[in-house]
Amino acid sequence: MTDLSTNNKEIDTILVLDFGSQYTQLIARRVRESDVYSEILPWDIDEEKIKAIKPKGIILSGGPDSVTQSFTPRVPQIIFDLNVPILGICYGMQTLAEQLGGQVISSDQKEFGYSELNVTSECVLFADLGKKLNVWMSHGDQVQDLPDNFDLVASTATAPIAAMQHESKPIFALQFHPEVTHTEDGHTVLNNFIFKVCRAKTDWKMDDLIGQRIQEIQNQVENNKVLLGLSGGVDSSVTAALLHQAIGNKLVCVFVDNGLLRKGEAEEVMNTFKENMNLNVIKSDSEEVFLRHLKGVTDPEQKRKIIGRTFIDVFDAEATKLKDIQFLAQGTIYPDVIESSGSESKEARVIKSHHNVGGLPEEMKMELVEPLRDLFKDEVRRMGVELGLSSEMLNRHPFPGPGLGVRILGDITKEKTSILKEADHIFIEELIKADLYKTVSQAFAVYLPVKSVGVVGDERRYAEVIGLRAVETVDFMTARWAHLPYDFLERVSNRIVNEIEEVSRVVYDISSKPPATIEWE
Ligand code: XMP
Repeated sequence: MTDLSTNNKEIDTILVLDFGSQYTQLIARRVRESDVYSEILPWDIDEEKIKAIKPKGIILSGGPDSVTQSFTPRVPQIIFDLNVPILGICYGMQTLAEQLGGQVISSDQKEFGYSELNVTSECVLFADLGKKLNVWMSHGDQVQDLPDNFDLVASTATAPIAAMQHESKPIFALQFHPEVTHTEDGHTVLNNFIFKVCRAKTDWKMDDLIGQRIQEIQNQVENNKVLLGLSGGVDSSVTAALLHQAIGNKLVCVFVDNGLLRKGEAEEVMNTFKENMNLNVIKSDSEEVFLRHLKGVTDPEQKRKIIGRTFIDVFDAEATKLKDIQFLAQGTIYPDVIESSGSESKEARVIKSHHNVGGLPEEMKMELVEPLRDLFKDEVRRMGVELGLSSEMLNRHPFPGPGLGVRILGDITKEKTSILKEADHIFIEELIKADLYKTVSQAFAVYLPVKSVGVVGDERRYAEVIGLRAVETVDFMTARWAHLPYDFLERVSNRIVNEIEEVSRVVYDISSKPPATIEWE
């Protein structure tokens, strides 16, 4: 799991101990939104690592297990020995209760969703808040008996012990989730813990961070050259801009145009980085080699593998041509590092991991530079804004590594990529025009491997079908199809069939995830 930079040793850190909750990352993000640094470590991490961090406070996350069963995770003794404030959330509360002498039961009354919390005694976590809060619950087990020396703080109708605190030590526990936005004043509850209990300093500020990262990059690479694979995505773009500020033209970027990018994307990336920002970018025009390797291949996983492998081959070939490169930069971000990440597919992580030193020719032996390794996506975007990248670039929908390769169902040809690029461009252009682009999380066109009948003039002919997909999602793990207005869809459909001769039919995908995935392959 994580092995974060040693850079942050000096700054106040709230440690989040991960028991496997889907909300663990959210806890760390909320803390950082309050300008306090937070780091996530697995619950069974090595003692030495915890000691080295010297946390100002520790938050125990929720998790899917039940403390009523043996062999489920427990809080390691070191957490208590450190004598720093502790906040247990959901499973974190239950294991605290169980380990400190209380009792936890598996309740018949499972609680999912909103609940009214009644705060019945004074507790610093609820300072400045009312006595009743609407909170978000997600649990089956609950604390039945308080552990020794703990006081009851709050209850809900189904959970008589919904919050508790130690009589004299700074140990607190909540059955509900203060980290989710559904919990009213959840942010204040967390802030009360961070500031009033842990007395953490607000050391985590974006402008300080940029200066600090620049200094660290300079210290690490000194006068050497750094290679970066630039994809035009948010992470690699911000990495490029940061490295450029740190080491100027000692940064060499390689941008691989594999022919599977969106319309105009290659030109846009080259314009932004080479023309406007004056970065040293080498463009590798590799459409031909990608299409050759993909010829006749229809199996989606096979296509992904071929695209990934060809990418690495092309990148390596470009890198080998360059002389005296000692460092390889990567736009790895925190969710890539935390194994539980769901925002990117496994394949994406495999591809990223291939780009580390191991994927490059043995003799190159480059050291990694990963300046965004401990940042969340929204922090990367904020850094991008500070570094002068355009908001269009920073707020673009995600685009999968294999690109249009997984949006053309069946085999891939130049003709099909051309048709799909046009259709996709029309869809996105209209979304932007109608001010709908930002309201959806991801939108794109898909080339279907079927022909359907159409009428052109008096003639019937079989022509191509384009699918449109637009979804709303927070984490890309689940998604709802976007309810785009009918007149908007009509406009897009008309434009596609009128402007692209080969297409006679447009369909809109109304499947949610699950069971459908966002991509079609
Ligand atoms: P699915 O289709 O799994 O997509 O619902 C979830 C998110 O992951 C992206 N995705 C990929 N990204 N390589 C990537 O880099 C891939 O092979 C890949 N497959 C899906 C997808 O675009 C969506 O944002």
